[in-house]
Amino acid sequence: MARTTIQDLMKWKREGHRWVCLTAYDAPTARVLAATEVPVVLVGDSLGNVILGHDSTIPVTMENMVHHTAAVRRGAPELFIVGDLPFLAVQVSEDEAVRNAGRLIQEGGADAVKLEGGGPRAATVKRIIEAGIPVMGHLGLTPQNATQLGGYRVQGVDENSARKIREDAISLEQAGAFSIVLECVPAPLAASIAKELAIPIIGIGAGGDVDAQVLVFHDLVGLSGDFQPRFVRRYVEIEEQMRDAVKRFQEDVTSGSFPSSKESFSMPHSKDAAEGSEQNPETELSG
Ligand code: KIV
Repeated sequence: MARTTIQDLMKWKREGHRWVCLTAYDAPTARVLAATEVPVVLVGDSLGNVILGHDSTIPVTMENMVHHTAAVRRGAPELFIVGDLPFLAVQVSEDEAVRNAGRLIQEGGADAVKLEGGGPRAATVKRIIEAGIPVMGHLGLTPQNATQLGGYRVQGVDENSARKIREDAISLEQAGAFSIVLECVPAPLAASIAKELAIPIIGIGAGGDVDAQVLVFHDLVGLSGDFQPRFVRRYVEIEEQMRDAVKRFQEDVTSGSFPSSKESFSMPHSKDAAEGSEQNPETELSG
């Protein structure tokens, strides 16, 4: 599959073709997404909660993001990858924001970056884009400032905050963002913003009338414990299957049925075999 381009995303918007974005934080997940032709992958700072065991995204660092973005790139050389800018990566100064965005591209191998925040971030978005780096915005429930927002709750429910989200979306588009994630906002608000803007609106908990849907991969496959907000649909219960596999392995070891002779290596008999030549199957790890 050819790597998705921003031109593809704009064309899909014009044509009304809906697409998906999923998170990935490591090479094996990236490989799965590449095989299923997911057009856009986000190495989100949800890394903090999903992988690193934190209870928020605040502790996530640039080092974490570069490290995991690079792993995703190694797992899927052809995917369009967006690297997330974590807490304090863009807030301190525009120069620092450009440098941090550049690290996700240069060291992490991302194609674009995502950052949280609206109007006040527009100048920073512009600077990053001027450096040649495409930017995805993120409005609504922005976990990096969840405390200011009153916790993890739906945003834009009253007239003022809905207006602010709409104005923020417009300023991000005017600053040059190529798309915007709208997280946990009422469906009618998201739909009207998607209709008004020329760039794709990617919803999560934002209803169905937007241009694309993003979910955290681990939520989709049931690898996020009891965490199941209503905007998530689980397609498989992987955690249950993993527990079952571990239990069966333990049973097989305690009963003595693992490893079998097929899962063990025998002593080489011939001179060739002892030298580890290709003719000797006993020196091959697989097969
Ligand atoms: O960090 C993340 O995974 C995100 C998505 C939920 C949009 O921001």
